[in-house]
Amino acid sequence: MPTPNPIYEQALKELKATPRKWLVTGCAGFIGSNLLEALLKQDQTVVGLDNYATGYPHNIEKVKELVSEDQRNRFTMIEGDLSDLDACKHACEGVDHVLHQGALGSVPRSIADPINSNAANVTGFLNMLVAARDAKVKSFVYASSSSVYGDHPDLPKVEANVGNPLSPYAVTKKVNELYAEQFANHYGLPCRGLRYFNVFGPRQDPNGAYAAVIPKWIAAMIQREAVRIFGDGETSRDFCYIENVVQANLLAAVHATTLDAEADHQVFNIAVGAQTTLNALHTLLQGALQEYSGPGEAQNSTPVYEDFRPGDVRHSLANIDQVAESIGYAPTHTIEEGIAEAMPWYIRNHEVVGDQ
Ligand SMILES: NC(=O)c1ccc[n+]([C@@H]2O[C@H](COP(=O)([O-])OP(=O)(O)OC[C@H]3O[C@@H](n4cnc5c(N)ncnc54)[C@H](O)[C@@H]3O)[C@@H](O)[C@H]2O)c1
Repeated sequence: MPTPNPIYEQALKELKATPRKWLVTGCAGFIGSNLLEALLKQDQTVVGLDNYATGYPHNIEKVKELVSEDQRNRFTMIEGDLSDLDACKHACEGVDHVLHQGALGSVPRSIADPINSNAANVTGFLNMLVAARDAKVKSFVYASSSSVYGDHPDLPKVEANVGNPLSPYAVTKKVNELYAEQFANHYGLPCRGLRYFNVFGPRQDPNGAYAAVIPKWIAAMIQREAVRIFGDGETSRDFCYIENVVQANLLAAVHATTLDAEADHQVFNIAVGAQTTLNALHTLLQGALQEYSGPGEAQNSTPVYEDFRPGDVRHSLANIDQVAESIGYAPTHTIEEGIAEAMPWYIRNHEVVGDQ
């Protein structure tokens, strides 16, 4: 059973009592659409910005189905590109809090196409900072990544100790943190960078060459296709359920303007603080799938081991003390609880994937 975090519950109550206006960039994507859902359910006013590069209109439609008509009417979607400063400025009008999620994810994508990754993740990021500064928003929370730890050997990862980036994607996220620091120092924009560690949950895209491991493997298991493991399977990650990430964003946004207003730029690890190898993940997913869909399902899923992928970090595990202390973050879901909660969605989504 998930463990509630009373600090978060209290923050939600306060938000509901005093609604604000939020901008969620990357709103049609996995994390963005989950943020949209959570905010609308708290009666917030939300503007979404997305160019549908890797996100989908059906994610937005799904969220609209999950909220009331009143809540739906508090949402405005802008189709626009982060590399267009005017679009960013338009999206920031009258906004209190920015949750900047829009970017091109994936290490391999950035190695294949560094120019487009840079345009979305660096130029787009800078545009958003300028737009947020000019709109005088109260806080700017943005998606960084555990990839900024690069080749630093320490485990667990502590915010202050980062190594050299191992991919263009990691460079873009490191540059985000450097720019956010400048905007905090020179313009007083309260910025919070959230270093996500392998997020998973409903609406994460299982398709395409750059799909994340959990949705991709579950889809492969359901289709009785081979699950491909890059390397020996002892590569490890700190898998973090989407509910934890939503919590971190909302707490970071409201705390940036209250408790720690003096600290204008901070970066936090957003994870669970638990390490799972890919081999263990395979066993866990197979067990969960069998439990939810009957013992016949996924019985043929024997992993196929392939070469290590360039740019991938070998081990990843977060220390989450700093984010717990600063904003009261406490993950509500372990990896097992997250997978159990999301499994019905994975199964349903597989059934309708052809319609979307
Ligand atoms: N999912 C993870 O495990 C993870 C881990 C670390 C960091 N992140 C970061 O979290 C954020 C959200 O990731 P996600 O997993 O939801 O990915 P996603 O691909 O589902 O969502 C990203 C969204 O950004 C939009 N976008 C991309 N380029 C854009 C542009 N130029 N203009 C406007 N919109 C644009 C996409 O269309 C998409 O809807 C990203 O910044 C990503 O780098 C994710």
